[in-house]
Amino acid sequence: MMKKVDFPVHNVRHFLEPGPVVLISSASGKETDIMTLGWHTILEFSPSLVGCMISAGNHSHQLIRNSGECVINLPTSSLLDTVVAIGNCSGEQVDKLSEFSLTAGKASKVKAPLIKECHACFECKLYDDSLVDNFNFFIFEVVKAHVAPSPAQPETVHYCGDGEFMLSGKHVSRRSQFRPEML
Ligand SMILES: Cc1cc2nc3c(=O)[nH]c(=O)nc-3n(C[C@H](O)[C@H](O)[C@H](O)COP(=O)(O)O)c2cc1C
Repeated sequence: MMKKVDFPVHNVRHFLEPGPVVLISSASGKETDIMTLGWHTILEFSPSLVGCMISAGNHSHQLIRNSGECVINLPTSSLLDTVVAIGNCSGEQVDKLSEFSLTAGKASKVKAPLIKECHACFECKLYDDSLVDNFNFFIFEVVKAHVAPSPAQPETVHYCGDGEFMLSGKHVSRRSQFRPEML
């Protein structure tokens, strides 16, 4: 279980810009669900906007449409098999929190659960649904961010398609070559 501290919402790019696979948790009424998601992108820093492609066939799609909320959870490589399993079954048949022995934490601004085993949890509210009907593309605002202070560079999981993953590796800096306003 990762102990987490409050993290500035305008900096969630630090974790999401490299494109890790995330777990999206949701709740509507008495139901909760979790799905695996690779197709997301940062859209803006302030407000802190993240776009996610959540297929209409997924049970999570319905819960998120109904509630207008979700949590984006960042798993590390130790959860790889769980990440794959969650992305290969439906919340209509399985209560994924108990099936995969994950611990639900209480979020502060949304009803969807935080997944405590994850390195970071970003509480999100639906900000714009204008691309949902045509593209299943949800634009969320991150309203609260919880991040484990260590490790500073968690080993995240990146999907390559065809059942293959890449684990994050060495960080290299070119900070000195950046214009200050580009940092
Ligand atoms: C590695 C991986 C990445 C995935 N990425 C996405 C994605 O970006 N968008 C999406 O709609 N489904 C994605 N999926 C599929 C969903 O996670 C899957 O359909 C899941 O069973 C949905 O669960 P639910 O029906 O309980 O919502 C991905 C699955 C895996 C294994």
